[in-house]
Amino acid sequence: MWFKNLRADIKAAKNNDPAARNGFEILLTYSGVHALMWYRLARFFHRIKLKLIARMISQFARFLTGIEIHPAAKIEGGVFIDHGSGVVIGETAEVHKGTVIYQGVTLGGTGKERGKRHPTIMENVTLSAGAKVLGGFTVGKGAKIGAGAVVLKEVPPYATVVGIPARIVRIRTPENEAEHGHDPHAGIIAVAALNAEINAEEAARKEEEAKAAAQIAEAERSKKK
Ligand SMILES: CC(C)(COP(=O)(O)OP(=O)(O)OC[C@H]1O[C@@H](n2cnc3c(N)ncnc32)[C@H](O)[C@@H]1OP(=O)(O)O)[C@@H](O)C(=O)NCCC(=O)NCCS
Repeated sequence: MWFKNLRADIKAAKNNDPAARNGFEILLTYSGVHALMWYRLARFFHRIKLKLIARMISQFARFLTGIEIHPAAKIEGGVFIDHGSGVVIGETAEVHKGTVIYQGVTLGGTGKERGKRHPTIMENVTLSAGAKVLGGFTVGKGAKIGAGAVVLKEVPPYATVVGIPARIVRIRTPENEAEHGHDPHAGIIAVAALNAEINAEEAARKEEEAKAAAQIAEAERSKKK
């Protein structure tokens, strides 16, 4: 299994880095591949309950590669971490195959949640340089997270999100992607519909909050009487 995952990681590097020349060079020189090798060893120790050894391996790997992956995180084979420095992947994060992670990406928590508090990244997601994805939600497959974005809520499949806090700028579908390549207008109607849905949800939430506040105020007034 370890070798199968390693092969998949090397293949992912080859597919995603135009500068990659061959598997042997990748194995020797790609810190993202090294970090995943160490992570899988650390995960083995974590699973047999030797958690201190697991953490020590993960810290040693961070020292070597600049990439910190908690041994309890779940990362499939076939993920590519490019350049690596400053990447942090938290305890309850999940990363599925085909995903590309650039330098400075954090898959973290907001500090407000307990239990599942790190994101789940589905297949073929691009996490651009410096993106911070914070919380226990899902980033749908094929999504692109722009460089420097701070993502605080669920991202639909094939959406591109940018900015702080991240907002959807477009949604590609496998069909329109094939038809239009990188046409920025593809999926624009879907974005408008989604934004309308989000706005409606927010309006409903605000109305609920206002109602609750009015009820509390009413209760306090009747107490005083
Ligand atoms: C988000 C990204 C992946 C492009 O995705 P895309 O689906 O092709 O999106 P587009 O380039 O069509 O951009 C869509 C809109 O978002 C804006 N945008 C793109 N990236 C952005 C970013 N990081 N921050 C803010 N806005 C951004 C574009 O200006 C465009 O706005 P417009 O419609 O008003 O012109 C890309 O812009 C990005 O951030 N790449 C960085 C990759 C990286 O980390 N490289 C490091 C290699 S070492």
